[in-house]
Amino acid sequence: MSKQPTSRSNFGSKFGTVATAAGSAVGLGNIWKFPYEAGQNGGGAFLLIYILCVLLFGLPIMISEFAIGRRARANVAGAFRKLSGTRSWGIVGLLGVITAFLILGFYFVVAGWSLEYVYQAASNAFVGKTPTDLSQAFVNFSTDTFQPLFWTVIFICANAFVLLAGVEKGIERISKILMPFLVLILILLSIRAITMPNGSAGLQFFFAPDFSKITPNVILSALGQAFFSLSLGMGCMVTYGSYIRKDNNLTKTALHVISVDTLIAILAGVAIFPAVFSLGINPAQGPELVFITLPNVFTHMAGGYIWAILFFLLLAIAALTSTISLQEVITAYVSEEFKLQRKKVIVGSSVVLIIVSSLCSLSLGVGSKLTIGGMRLFDLFDFTSSKLFLPLGALLISIFIGWFYNPKKIRDEISNQGKLSTKLFPVYYFLMRYFVPIAIIAIFLNELGLFN
Ligand code: PHE
Repeated sequence: MSKQPTSRSNFGSKFGTVATAAGSAVGLGNIWKFPYEAGQNGGGAFLLIYILCVLLFGLPIMISEFAIGRRARANVAGAFRKLSGTRSWGIVGLLGVITAFLILGFYFVVAGWSLEYVYQAASNAFVGKTPTDLSQAFVNFSTDTFQPLFWTVIFICANAFVLLAGVEKGIERISKILMPFLVLILILLSIRAITMPNGSAGLQFFFAPDFSKITPNVILSALGQAFFSLSLGMGCMVTYGSYIRKDNNLTKTALHVISVDTLIAILAGVAIFPAVFSLGINPAQGPELVFITLPNVFTHMAGGYIWAILFFLLLAIAALTSTISLQEVITAYVSEEFKLQRKKVIVGSSVVLIIVSSLCSLSLGVGSKLTIGGMRLFDLFDFTSSKLFLPLGALLISIFIGWFYNPKKIRDEISNQGKLSTKLFPVYYFLMRYFVPIAIIAIFLNELGLFN
């Protein structure tokens, strides 16, 4: 069962609360996944739908996850059981754990890529290379059998080390200081990219929505990306909510986290698309987009050598604060539900994740012939987590809040027992009770081809 409420520590300051939740939210999702999803799904049309998804789904669900966590002060499964009074709602927790494994399976691989790119940047490997050379170099690396595995395992061990040593807080604190530098480098990259020849075509692609590009698939991609980037739909923010102080304004905290996360994603787009168009790279490349685009920009930048090392290092740290939060969902669940020592759970889950991530990594090279539903394992994990499990988790959360939980209690929790204004509560409640569940169900049914 869940831990004693008294044994759960609280976040000290308001800034600390925002920074820790933002540490989970800001990661590869913003800088690696967002640009390639936007590139594959019509650019500006995707951006527009994405922002709508963030506001209409992301905001109310983040407030709900915080509120559920703070009210129950337990791991995800425990929280849903406690608030519902029935065992069956614990399924949301189990779903979250499965999702965490799926996400970490490919996330660790990409985090490993960023370590390789720190190494390449430091050994001056980008200099004098043409865009074609740099693309080829990435393909050679990512389809290699051992090299990516090496970095993936290093990253998983680093993550396990942080969790075992219990220094997550320390890492969050360091990252709070370092993330402004990541933003700074993104701004510099953006300026450089925009001023490249034909850079404006990239801005046009990213900001001018072509409404004919909006298809049901684009909508599902944007929705899944919003949940992924905001760490929603799998209980991660429920866990954080359980550490938030009673006097914290949950709505404001959610707004802050969402603003930071969305700004960084947009900035990544501004750094990447002008360069993509200037260099003649295909924006719909897929997961390799960032890794083949940015090294080109660094080679065209004053001080590019240093910026490149710093950028990929900071990207790895941003990824680390996200993987910490993902593996914490697994650790809290398994240790509290099965009464196992945290250390054992961390070691055990890391071993499992080494196997799973290795398979994902190998699926890009030697294992690429092995596909399920036409997808390589790497793409399958990416697809099922973002487009299936996270929306499903969010659906369950909205049904729980909208149809099972007492509205008075949730209003109490969000308004800090009536101390904060409840004027907008009806809007929030309408979104959670009707809009979010109906929209997600409609998107799913459409995906199954039921509307055709
Ligand atoms: N939000 C993280 C990112 O954008 C990934 C993540 C998803 C973290 C779900 C926790 C839970 O990189």
